[in-house]
Formats: sequence, structure tokens, C-alpha cells
Amino acid sequence: MLVLGVESSCDETAVGIVSDGRVVANAVRSQVEEHAAYGGIVPDLAARMHVEAIAPVVEEACRQAGVTPDRIEAVAATYAPGLVNCLVVGLSWAKAFAVARRIPFVAVDHLEAHVHACLLAPPGATRAPDAAQLPLVALLASGGHTAIYRYDGPGAIRRLGRTVDDAAGEAFDKVAVLLGLSYPGGPAVERAAQGGDRAAFAFPRARVKGTDYDFSFSGLKTAVLYATRGKNQSRDAPLVPGLSIPDVSASFQEAVCDVLAERVVRAALDEGVSTLALGGGVACNGRLRELVRERGEAQALDVVLSHPAYCTDNGAMIAAWAADAIAAGRAPRATDLALGALPRSEVA
Ligand code: KG4
Ligand code: ZN
Repeated sequence: MLVLGVESSCDETAVGIVSDGRVVANAVRSQVEEHAAYGGIVPDLAARMHVEAIAPVVEEACRQAGVTPDRIEAVAATYAPGLVNCLVVGLSWAKAFAVARRIPFVAVDHLEAHVHACLLAPPGATRAPDAAQLPLVALLASGGHTAIYRYDGPGAIRRLGRTVDDAAGEAFDKVAVLLGLSYPGGPAVERAAQGGDRAAFAFPRARVKGTDYDFSFSGLKTAVLYATRGKNQSRDAPLVPGLSIPDVSASFQEAVCDVLAERVVRAALDEGVSTLALGGGVACNGRLRELVRERGEAQALDVVLSHPAYCTDNGAMIAAWAADAIAAGRAPRATDLALGALPRSEVA
């Protein structure tokens, strides 16, 4: 079955196509350069750019897949969570396409799709024989969300823990600003950390009282602020003379990745699953991938790291979730066509 998935929840206009479980197209137009000038995403600008990009990106996906639009048998789009005026662009396009072509429409939760992405074979490959086994426990770490889920398949997802303040990617982005690095911050901090000493600063690893798998990054952010400006100084104060940006970057990255890896491995062991997965934009981070793999494998877990092309926002994960949900008889739901865009996920 040929399923086309549309993703427009934030600053990437993305369209993927899957054919019988295999990704045959994954077209993305990123707006990162346009928003970089503002140091963050400007929602109205993002929505306008989705409107301009949606048709060409669909064309590009069809070209990659070598299919014409009339061959598509079902269409899916992200409906939550995200910037509502961005979501409505992809959602409305996909609904209109489904109605006009008289094919099923599937509304997809962006977070569940990020988790589902770990089941995809790397680009160009068929479904790998050692693909993730369900049920699994997944860490989803992105710019807007950081949480741990138990995943039993489409529609069967349960949140085990989450950040109580910043998302991990947001912490990377804010620390990058403190260090004078470029936007988006995650890749910039990772580059700066190369050659830095990850033990140079003893940054805190916060524990959230009364919870096993929750995260908090606000204390860490403050610790980085004081390390770079001096204790109790504001962000406008000058940098501490002689400060090593690589050392701060490496120590900060280590603190974030240490906490993320420790909690997700523990959650997987406590849930009694054999597979541990990693997804979301921050899952592109080499040190996080290394730590999760090392610690997970030390506990005899099968560690599945989503391919970087499926970590950041993409349409393939939307199409793949919809295709597997249709195959499992869980989609489309009677309400899918009537669903509007929602800023928050309904996944608990
Ligand atoms: O999943 P994503 O593309 O979009 C959201 O749904 O948020 O994630 C974007 C986030 C940004 O905060 C970015 O700084 C972070 O992922 N990120 C990284 C890396 N690449 C992207 N964080 C750390 N290391 C990276 N290499
Ligand atoms: Zn995302």
C-alpha cells in the first residue's frame, strides 16, 4: 500500500511516502536558515513558508518515489502537537487531497510518530531483520519535547516520564545562545564540544523529587550561565576571561546525555522490555547515541537508534505510522477527518 505522510508542525515542511513498510520518499524543506536571523522560530513566518513549500515538497516526494499522485492509496498528516497555524497547513492539504481523491485520511500524533520512527529501516534499505521488537521503551528528545514512552504499537503508547521544564533540545538551543554559538544550538554545541573536556565542569544532574523517569534542565542551564558569566551574574554580563567554550560545551553535553541515558535505560529495565529506542532531533547527537548504546547493551538490551534522517522532523515517520496503524486496523478513526490542529499531544 502506498501511503503519503505530511509533517508541518514546526519549521520543516516534510512529505514522506512508504510502500509496503518501506520508505520510498522522504522530502524535507527546512526553514532553519530563515529563522536563524531571529534566533528562534517565528510562527507566522513559519506558517507562510509552509504554504509556499507544501506543493513543491509533495512533488519532490512523488518524484523520489517514482509515482504520480493518483497512485497514493492513503494520506496522513500530523494534527498535534505543534504550532497550530503551521499544523493547519499540512493538515488541510492532506484532508483536501484525501477527500478529492476519495482515499482514507489518517490524523497522526507527532510524538507517537517520532517513537515509531525507530522501526524504520535506514534510507535505501528494506526493513532490517534486526528491526526493533515491540514492546519497547523509547526516549524522545527534541526541541519541544523530552519524554520516555512505553510503546506497544500504533495507538498503544504510554508516557513514563517527561521533562518538568525545558526540553533537552531547548536546553541545547539556550546554552548555544549563552556561548555565542549559532542556531539551532544542538549541532553547534556538539561541534564545539569536540576536543573539549567533558569533566572540566561538574554540572548538575537533577533528579525530580518523587519521580523515577522525569527530567529537569533548568538548574543545569543556570549552572552554565554562572560558569560562563560568574556566580549570580546575568546573561548580559561579559564572558569569564579565558573561558574554554569547548570545555563548557562538552561538560554541558555530557550532563544532558548522562541523565537522558540513565533514565531511559532504567525505564526499559523496570518495564521488562528487551528493546530500547532513541528518537527526536537530539537523538542525532553522537555522544547521546554512544552513551545510550553503551549503557543499554551493558544491560543486555537491544538498542535501536533511529537513523538521523528519521530523528529530526520528517514525513516518512508520519506515513509509516499511518501505514502500520491501517494494517493493524487502528486507523483511520471515524473522527480523523473532523480533527482540528491541536497545540498539545493527546498522548498521556
Ligand atoms: O525533533 P526536532 O527536529 O524538532 C522538534 O520536534 O523539536 O528537534 C529539533 C531539536 C533542536 O532543539 C536542536 O537543537 C536539537 O533537536 N538537535 C540536537 C542535535 N541536532 C538537533 N541536539 C543535540 N545534538 C545534536 N546533534
Ligand atoms: Zn519533532
